[in-house]
Amino acid sequence: MTTTTIELKPSAHPLSDAEREAILANPGFGRHFTDHMVTIKWTEGRGWHDAELVPYAPLSLDPANMTLHYAQEIFEGLKAYRQPDGSVAVFRPEANAERFQRSAARLAMPELPVETFIAACDALVQQDKAWVPAHGGEASLYLRPFMIATEVGLGVKPANEYLFIVIASPAGAYFPGGVKPVSIWLSEDRVRAVPGGIGAAKTGGNYAASLLAQAEAAAHGCDQVAYLDALEHKWVEELGGMNLYFVYEDRIVTPELTGSLLAGITRDSLLKLAKDLGHQPQEGRVSIDDWRRDTENGTLKEVFACGTAAVITPVGRVKCASGEWTQSGGEPGEVTMRLRESLLAIQTGTAPDPHAWMHPL
Ligand code: PLP
Ligand code: COI
Repeated sequence: MTTTTIELKPSAHPLSDAEREAILANPGFGRHFTDHMVTIKWTEGRGWHDAELVPYAPLSLDPANMTLHYAQEIFEGLKAYRQPDGSVAVFRPEANAERFQRSAARLAMPELPVETFIAACDALVQQDKAWVPAHGGEASLYLRPFMIATEVGLGVKPANEYLFIVIASPAGAYFPGGVKPVSIWLSEDRVRAVPGGIGAAKTGGNYAASLLAQAEAAAHGCDQVAYLDALEHKWVEELGGMNLYFVYEDRIVTPELTGSLLAGITRDSLLKLAKDLGHQPQEGRVSIDDWRRDTENGTLKEVFACGTAAVITPVGRVKCASGEWTQSGGEPGEVTMRLRESLLAIQTGTAPDPHAWMHPL
């Protein structure tokens, strides 16, 4: 199926206006879900079929569903923002659709056509438009498209049936407490992904692999983990759910796409936006020794993390087995905050959109 026709079966019992408004007043992240979801099936020999918008509801899965055993699953994350005129626009959905195809290919899953991915997101946002937070702040409607295998059986092989679903969740700040610098634990022994592995795919297994190191970070009093490359345990790759940027005196560096880190859409947008703002962004390699030495000699001015959920979050403190150091005096850096404001201004429609990133509904 390459058609983007989605059959609408709206809920007879959506949440009341008052209940929804109470949630939107303090949405948190990923805690509440809108009234509907889109589902599309794929069957071998038939392709994509039965695209529907239905009431949000639990799934009924056979205990021998392959996803539950072998984790053939992929997902995406993107946001819809309320614009100043009350309309709604989604940030770079085609980039997420393309990454979803790359993740599918890596996990031996069928590729959903880009236009179907976008039509599914549009249909859900259109139906649940009242759930998009008001213009004026940073809040948005976070969309979570994902795909699971639905074949039943315990043989290890690519499944012959899949289900694509889009759900939506109103989102406030990912890290509660405003733009507060996060502390980073540099994990020198636990790796997130290996060359030739699935690190560049947005698949649940990568997040499962990150949880123990995340718990260790918390035990060391840190908010997030930075993973190093799996071969030399030396080159900085990314955080569990965000990419990293290093702001030097004369350039801004983000770790190059080695195949074991996620090609973040915020990362890509910032490579362009930083250039628009007169900086010299580049993809390169930063080792943990560079990170520490350049912070201590004052050439590395700021470090920040970026991703859809977390937008741009300054790094204020770094800790590893051999010591710890403060970044930008523990305060949000000037360049970090300028980039953050510029990106959010495009997303919320208060600044021009020179790269045509916003997809209006
Ligand atoms: N790295 C990982 C592991 C992620 O999960 C995410 C979040 O999606 C990112 C980086 C940032 O990607 P994006 O900017 O596309 O949200
Ligand atoms: C996102 O930023 O969209 C993510 O997927 C990060 C995290 C919530 C897993």
